[in-house]
Amino acid sequence: MHVITIAQQKGGSGKTTLTVGPATELARRGHRVAVIDLDPQGSLGQWFMRRLERDPEGGGIDFSTASAWGVGYEARKKRDVDVVLIDTPPKIDSDLKPALREADLVIVPVTASEVDLWATEGVLDLAAREGKRPLAVLNRAREGTKLTTAIKAALAGLAADPAETVIAQRVAHAEAMGAGQGACERARAGPAAAEIARLADEVAGRLGL
Ligand SMILES: Nc1ncnc2c1ncn2[C@@H]1O[C@H](COP(=O)(O)OP(=O)(O)OP(=O)(O)O)[C@@H](O)[C@H]1O
Ligand SMILES: [Mg+2]
Repeated sequence: MHVITIAQQKGGSGKTTLTVGPATELARRGHRVAVIDLDPQGSLGQWFMRRLERDPEGGGIDFSTASAWGVGYEARKKRDVDVVLIDTPPKIDSDLKPALREADLVIVPVTASEVDLWATEGVLDLAAREGKRPLAVLNRAREGTKLTTAIKAALAGLAADPAETVIAQRVAHAEAMGAGQGACERARAGPAAAEIARLADEVAGRLGL
């Protein structure tokens, strides 16, 4: 069982989207997947409730919530799954430590904005203290813009490995989320699904899945 924690202090950077994307893609590939919502906002839980309306079995994904301090126990309980993805709230404090500690891989989404980049150092520091070097994923990118190019270059200077895959701003992610799905399920042939598949390849490669 492998644990992936998705963390970033900056709200709206794509933590929940980059939990749902790889979770649904890995499930589609036949891996047994569980997701844990640590965020009291409960966006991932709402996504999952919509998913249950489509399929009472959860479409191949197991869902639970946990408290910040109970997350290690909750994750380790899931012995019969291959991958557990933990979505976290938009803040960094000591509450985040257990989720980082538990992680075999930490994913830090960074939107193409300077503000997100500044906010990122906090979570990278915290991850480093737990001995983790996160995978930084550029999200909501607009290819060809100067800002995206600049942020992409700046990612290389962080205490993280920049993901090769860049996730563009695409409405398919939001639409899929609203329908309790991942882009790979809702718009299989589209570019959003292709990007998530490449990210899932990177993640699977790192975890040896
Ligand atoms: N690549 C993308 N393309 C289009 N929309 C996106 C993308 N990534 C995220 N969004 C949208 O941006 C909003 C914020 O994304 P999301 O909820 O994943 O961020 P978050 O980091 O989990 O937010 P919070 O910090 O509030 O938990 C959502 O409406 C989501 O649909
Ligand atoms: Mg979220």
